[in-house]
Amino acid sequence: MLITVCTTYEKIDPVRFIGNYSSGKMGYALALEAAERGADVTLVSGPVSIKLSHPNVKIVDVESAKEMLAACTDAFPCADISIMCAAVADYAPQTVATSKIKREHQEVPTITLVKNPDIAATLGGMKKPGQVIAGFALETDHEATNALEKLHRKNLDLIVLNSLRDKGAGFKTDTNKITILLSDGTSVPYELKTKAEVAADILDKISEKYF
Ligand code: CTP
Repeated sequence: MLITVCTTYEKIDPVRFIGNYSSGKMGYALALEAAERGADVTLVSGPVSIKLSHPNVKIVDVESAKEMLAACTDAFPCADISIMCAAVADYAPQTVATSKIKREHQEVPTITLVKNPDIAATLGGMKKPGQVIAGFALETDHEATNALEKLHRKNLDLIVLNSLRDKGAGFKTDTNKITILLSDGTSVPYELKTKAEVAADILDKISEKYF
């Protein structure tokens, strides 16, 4: 299995970056649950403070979306199941300042952004028969419509939707409330659970549906 997790850091200068609030808890819970079930897991992890040591889990530490993409395209051909859990930064600064940007001596700086690669969509384009890709969608409105649109655009097999409108779902929390949407348009809602329980639900659904 291949799992991406956490945020990515897109460097502005040697001390600053663009990132987001993703804690990595959901992806690490998935990696642990999969490893406990006997899977060989490559966990491509953005910067995170969580520690995981398990004989079945190989952690590949990355920082930027470009590094995450490179690690994923390496691991993907051997993965039966890939779960795209990372909250990848959609944009990165076009140039990275080599020295710290100072407050004095200059006007308010403008940072020009460029689009980052879409890792899930890239893997979706490389997918061979028998490979399954799951994505995540954290939405604030038109949740199911947006999630299904992402599933099809990125050529995923299922997508795990969580809404920031649900209390206890999303970033930083130890709980999550998900709905799993499948490519045939069916959806399965779940109760609010711990991220460890949610990880088990996601893996159960993948096994039931595809293996
Ligand atoms: N994803 C990815 N690479 C990106 C952006 C997203 O692999 N550059 C993956 C995420 O890991 C997730 C899925 O795509 O599994 C959906 O992520 P999301 O951020 O919701 O999708 P975006 O395409 O970035 O859409 P939005 O405009 O809502 O941010």
